[in-house]
Amino acid sequence: MKGITLRTPGGLDRLELIDMPDPGAPGPGEVRVRVHASSLNYHDYGVVSGRMATEDGRIPMSDGAGVVEAVGEGVTEFKDGDPVVSCFFPDWHEGPPTVSDFSTTPGDGVDGYAREVVVRPATWFTHTPVNFSHAEAATLTTAGLTAWRALVVIGGLKAGDVVLVLGTGGVSVFALQLAKAMGATVIATSSSDEKLERVRALGADHTINYRKHEDWGVRARGWTGGRGIDHVVEVGGPGTLAQSIAAVRIGGHISLIGVLTGRAGEVPTGALMAKQVRLQGLIVGNRRQQMDFVRALEATGLRPVIDRSFGLTEIAEAFRYEASGAHFGKICLEF
Ligand SMILES: NC(=O)c1ccc[n+]([C@@H]2O[C@H](COP(=O)([O-])OP(=O)(O)OC[C@H]3O[C@@H](n4cnc5c(N)ncnc54)[C@H](OP(=O)(O)O)[C@@H]3O)[C@@H](O)[C@H]2O)c1
Repeated sequence: MKGITLRTPGGLDRLELIDMPDPGAPGPGEVRVRVHASSLNYHDYGVVSGRMATEDGRIPMSDGAGVVEAVGEGVTEFKDGDPVVSCFFPDWHEGPPTVSDFSTTPGDGVDGYAREVVVRPATWFTHTPVNFSHAEAATLTTAGLTAWRALVVIGGLKAGDVVLVLGTGGVSVFALQLAKAMGATVIATSSSDEKLERVRALGADHTINYRKHEDWGVRARGWTGGRGIDHVVEVGGPGTLAQSIAAVRIGGHISLIGVLTGRAGEVPTGALMAKQVRLQGLIVGNRRQQMDFVRALEATGLRPVIDRSFGLTEIAEAFRYEASGAHFGKICLEF
């Protein structure tokens, strides 16, 4: 079978398509999965670009979706032919967070899904929503579950809430769709007027070009009549947090998710405190939350927005496309 490995010290020209030994039959508690799709995340780009150090020969990609080809002894949750999607934290099944790093994450601390076949414990996967394509299912592992956990699990989102999403990448577009599906009002930002038209077509109620308007957070709060935003899906980090704090309502909630503008910086802590804001860091979610999320997708009929798909051999090109920032929503690999 074919797969992709990353040679140290990383870089898109260090991704190699190679023949790999077939992993064989599943052992007790395991499943054999023919992987058909993955999706690209900012995190995966960190690994393949060499910015986040990993082992020589690592198989990249955290997200994997495909079909169960065989189940090992004792596996009752899946059967041959079931479509499945991988979990970002294979060992965090339910309950409060147990992880604060990527040492167990496929495609980073352990081998990922840029390969045709894997044999893994059954608990590394969940079922997919009925009738999802493999590419659609692959977007759930990281981007989708992060948006779900931020807004619903931690945020307690309810109809009538106002949600602010930053930019039009994978997590933000998912958050916009989820918020609309659950009856919220959504304000979306982007660097591109053309992308803002696309978020309006997806249901965004108000849009702001953050390149043209540096005070986008103040403007977002203004649009709510001064009340402010209930939930900010904060994918920017230090460069955007001050405006997110300006946007949020008194007692509102900011999900601190992303590092698009860096990993450390100045935070207006006085404003954060005075507004009595709940600032919650999070990374993705657990297997139980993924199962709840799958049910929610089936109930709402929400379908992920896939900008473009590439073949496995085009993985470097796919990451170049992601790095260009031209995409809207998700980029996938299909094989
Ligand atoms: N904590 C977690 O669990 C978790 C999970 C997934 C992702 N993340 C993080 O969340 C961030 C987004 O990930 P992703 O996979 O959605 O990335 P992505 O698909 O590559 O999204 C990139 C988009 O973000 C927008 N953007 C870039 N700089 C921005 C800025 N200064 N202000 C507002 N928007 C900006 C741009 O949208 P426009 O082109 O519209 O301007 C860009 O196209 C990354 O930092 C990633 O590491 C965290």
